[in-house]
Amino acid sequence: MTRIAYLDGAFLPLADARVSALDRGFVFGDGIYEVSAVLDGGLVDNASHLDRLMRSLGEISLALPVTRERLIEIQKELIVRNDLAEGVVYLQVTRGAAEREFGFPKDATPTLFMCTQAKNIAASPSAATGVKVKSVPDLRWQRCDIKSISLLAQVLAKQAASEAGCFEAWMVRDGLVTEGSSSSAFLVLADGTVVTRPNSNAVLPGCTRKALLALAAEGAIRVEERLFTLDEAFTAAEAFMTSASTFLYPIVELDGRPIGTGRPGPVATRLREIYLDFARRDAADPANRP
Ligand code: PDD
Repeated sequence: MTRIAYLDGAFLPLADARVSALDRGFVFGDGIYEVSAVLDGGLVDNASHLDRLMRSLGEISLALPVTRERLIEIQKELIVRNDLAEGVVYLQVTRGAAEREFGFPKDATPTLFMCTQAKNIAASPSAATGVKVKSVPDLRWQRCDIKSISLLAQVLAKQAASEAGCFEAWMVRDGLVTEGSSSSAFLVLADGTVVTRPNSNAVLPGCTRKALLALAAEGAIRVEERLFTLDEAFTAAEAFMTSASTFLYPIVELDGRPIGTGRPGPVATRLREIYLDFARRDAADPANRP
């Protein structure tokens, strides 16, 4: 089946989607992206992702070239055209093609590119087995709250993890874990308390994290939003990661050392179930379906 993408007003085969070599996304990494999950053919927690998109765009003074309503229509049309049951809808907005000058161009039109990726999220084997994580230095800039397409530090972090046989990298700044290269980071203490770093300019405010913390509160699971060190992570009862493209994966090993029993723990397992339940209900809402 030919994958269909959206680029600047047109639906076309992904292989035919072309942008200018002078596009500022290509030349400067000057753009913003978002990733929304799709489950059973419906969007999951999409309003939260679009809110974060609008905030990120505002922080770099970039205008969305379509309305928010139109953006949702395109997301849904891509789900239909690609017959997507489960996976993600990716979107990115760049400042468009212009002569290579660092400052904002006066007359460039933003580029909007969107596509889908099929992915097994609900029944992912990694959710059952848990994943391994490697710690790396956090090499990123000081506005990690902006979902920038400039992802070189995360690319290097994920590659280092991959070369060590790990699924994810946990980035460490000043001895403190910030987050995963493309996920939010959590510990579970011996008494069942969930610990995660508070939102700030040092991390991306995860949409999955936000929804999960609300669900944890409803489920009377205690949460502490505070900084934590790598040493504390080594001695935690459990650890896990969240993102739109994984929902929640238990972490069973950090830098070659087992976390807790070395198997997915009960709190992570329960929270994944709670999130999956929420995601299924949200994806079934007619407002989130094509
Ligand atoms: N990454 N932290 C970082 C640095 C991320 O890149 C992501 C998401 C998250 C989790 O955010 P959310 O729960 O809203 O997906 C945290 C996406 C999935 C990606 O880059 O593909």
